[in-house]
Amino acid sequence: MSEKVLVIGGAGFIGSHTVDVLIEEGFNVTILDNLSERVHRGELPDYLNSKAQLVVGDVRNKEELALCLKDVSYVYNFAAYQDYMTDFSSFFSTNSVGTALLYEVIVNERIPIKKVIIASSQFVQGEGVYKNKAGKLFYPGPRPKTDLDNGLWDHYEKKGEKLDWEWTSENYSNPTNSYSISKHSQELISLNLGRQYEIPTVVLRYSIVQGSRQSFFNTYSGACRIFCIHYEKDIPPVIYEDGMMCRDFVNINDAVKANLLVLKIDEANWKILNIGGGKSYSILEFSSEVAKCFGKTHIEPKLPGQYRLGDTRNACSDISKIRALGWEPKNSITESILDYIDYMKNRKIPDSLIEDSIKSMINSGVVRKAKV
Ligand SMILES: NC(=O)c1ccc[n+]([C@@H]2O[C@H](COP(=O)([O-])OP(=O)(O)OC[C@H]3O[C@@H](n4cnc5c(N)ncnc54)[C@H](O)[C@@H]3O)[C@@H](O)[C@H]2O)c1
Repeated sequence: MSEKVLVIGGAGFIGSHTVDVLIEEGFNVTILDNLSERVHRGELPDYLNSKAQLVVGDVRNKEELALCLKDVSYVYNFAAYQDYMTDFSSFFSTNSVGTALLYEVIVNERIPIKKVIIASSQFVQGEGVYKNKAGKLFYPGPRPKTDLDNGLWDHYEKKGEKLDWEWTSENYSNPTNSYSISKHSQELISLNLGRQYEIPTVVLRYSIVQGSRQSFFNTYSGACRIFCIHYEKDIPPVIYEDGMMCRDFVNINDAVKANLLVLKIDEANWKILNIGGGKSYSILEFSSEVAKCFGKTHIEPKLPGQYRLGDTRNACSDISKIRALGWEPKNSITESILDYIDYMKNRKIPDSLIEDSIKSMINSGVVRKAKV
């Protein structure tokens, strides 16, 4: 009989792609997902795999979790409260409490789970690691608000002496906002409880994952989603800061391969592993790639000198640890963008979506304007 996998948050972007591959691999899959309003807007996603059993329920509900965990060998937890708005406690409710409850049920119900895989985020590394010209390393906290107000976007050793960013490894954590602190707490909860109760656990710190099925509705996150919606609607995208902040982007098919690999190999157990794209792009470079994919390079992005409070300047993950386990990112950003454009076809994206999300970020003080 095929082994049973519970995919919590399996109706979402990364979860649903993982479900598809697990089913292809012959697993018996149950999805526990509350079809959260902010991701699904009350609709059942049309891409859900009919071979998976869907339980509409909440990771914070003990009875629902216990029911779904019956006879399960492996668990993925993708359920999350995301974005960077000011409802701080919501992040901890789903991300931290949900993860603690998962271990609570496994331990108290004595469920012989073979492995738990937890979705964490690159943003746990916060601003990451920097270096000066002499090679000395720096570990900066959030950029001072006075710098941001004055349009000084980088990290500096002292006035005028800019630091260079480094590819940051899993050894480093410095989360600074509610989302990343809650993701870090998920890492600590799962690895510590896992060790204590001998439940093999793996934490995956994804960089920005891209491809089809990413919800249109997040207010803040998802460069591919944001720029694609702008270009689709012929609206020039607004780029924050000077557009020179760097990110690494990983394609969903590559991320799913990593998800499956860590389920299969014992060497992944007890590790935090960065799952990234291995190449860095500035946000301006990325937006121009989206413009090219749409054939709309005549639509120039706007750079009004706005910034998002709590944003990191650069975020690029060192992926040598997962590479050593035999994984390599294969798909380009162009493939991810084209995949998302294809996904957007024949799907309704409300005209007011961009305006509404910008308004809500400005009203809550997340988006601000530099004085210069
Ligand atoms: N997409 C990325 O670029 C990215 C990057 C870093 C980390 N991550 C992490 O990966 C995971 C999956 O991300 P995603 O992009 O697929 O997100 P998503 O929003 O598409 O999927 C999350 C799913 O979880 C469900 N969910 C939310 N709250 C729930 C709850 N309380 N109980 C049950 N289900 C709940 C949602 O309905 C949704 O279907 C998250 O933990 C996220 O923090 C994602």
